[in-house]
Amino acid sequence: MADFSQVHNVDDFKRLARGYLPRPIFDWIEGGAEDEVSLANNRQAFERVRFKPRTIVDVTRRDQTVELFGRRMASPFCIAPMGNLSLFWPNAEEEIAQAAVAAGIPFVLSTASAVSMEKVAESAPGGRLWFQLYVFKDQKVNRSLVDRAAQAGYEALMVTTDTHMFPKRERDRRNGIGLNLKKTPANIAAVMARPKWLWDVVLSRPMPKLANLESEVSGPTTYEALANYFLTQRYNGFDLEDLKRLRDQWKGKLMVKGILNVEDAYRAIEVGCDGIILSNHGGRNLEGSAAPFEVLPEIVDGVGGRIPVLLDSGFRRGSDIVKALAIGAKAVMLGRPAAYAVAGGGKDGVAHMLATMKDEVDRVQGYMGCQTLSELGRDLLLFDRQRPGANTTTI
Ligand SMILES: Cc1cc2nc3c(=O)[nH]c(=O)nc-3n(C[C@H](O)[C@H](O)[C@H](O)COP(=O)(O)O)c2cc1C
Repeated sequence: MADFSQVHNVDDFKRLARGYLPRPIFDWIEGGAEDEVSLANNRQAFERVRFKPRTIVDVTRRDQTVELFGRRMASPFCIAPMGNLSLFWPNAEEEIAQAAVAAGIPFVLSTASAVSMEKVAESAPGGRLWFQLYVFKDQKVNRSLVDRAAQAGYEALMVTTDTHMFPKRERDRRNGIGLNLKKTPANIAAVMARPKWLWDVVLSRPMPKLANLESEVSGPTTYEALANYFLTQRYNGFDLEDLKRLRDQWKGKLMVKGILNVEDAYRAIEVGCDGIILSNHGGRNLEGSAAPFEVLPEIVDGVGGRIPVLLDSGFRRGSDIVKALAIGAKAVMLGRPAAYAVAGGGKDGVAHMLATMKDEVDRVQGYMGCQTLSELGRDLLLFDRQRPGANTTTI
């Protein structure tokens, strides 16, 4: 097992990932859209809310489990879907799924995973696996992906609705990341500077490709062909009718990921979705989008407990998670923290990151005077009222 004695938080994992991955690959994880203002704001939003703990409380016993869809999660967080994780570590999807099972939390597998949904399910028996769906123009492909997820035992389907345009991530454009990493002198130098990654991920095994699509597309299934399909065949006509169709087809729990507007939350409820994920895709898509944490109070109030509200984007500390729960979120998803952790040490890295996050949640919960997370409420938060128009329900 790698030595994580000096790895105390997500930033420490980020440092490890930076040392393992070629610069353009690291940038692909870390970067956001355009000027990266939304990316930065996702973090800054948490600073505008502070704690007002209750300290004369017995917290010798603390429970951080939460119930979701009739089952308990060991901690109030899970792992967000991320494409092509095996580019960061060999078989990363399987290793992350295994670390999530061991930690008692769900893992969301991306449509764009480099290990097929069937193999991931086999590798993590007893796990709580959710499948994230990107919708394609070809309805047959969508139906098949959904049927396969049901067949493979995925508990929930999470349809992502915030990636219907091709994002403008300028780091990637400068680095020449398209279908492939362009073979420029700078990129070759960046790859040569990371020989361990080069061996682990590229030379010692077949190049990780979009495994879920392999059996779906006709014609060649090379890395480039599948990536090309993924980039050119996505559907940006997804509307309420499509969501209804998906609801009819998928019998398990259905969630929509990418909600920032309360009207969309109402629509998700109207068609019978079981949960929503507030997300701005980690600041990677719509520059200028609000942080999910900023719109959380308004959407929690609008939803009024009818379905659970989850969110992601910018969560790096247990205290961030506790703030979201105090506002009314059911749970949180971690994106980049898991990507950094897997690049920083595979399954053991992810296990260490999850344990660190659990420990932080536990500490904050104790400081806040809460034996269970359901005792958290907005009365324990101080909202920044310095900004014009701010009140107790805006951040
Ligand atoms: C490298 C990377 C790949 C991603 N791929 C997907 C994906 O395939 N599907 C999806 O719905 N979201 C994807 N996301 C977005 C995450 O699910 C999540 O919304 C975001 O990372 C949360 O923000 P955070 O990274 O600040 O935690 C990706 C994010 C990253 C960093």
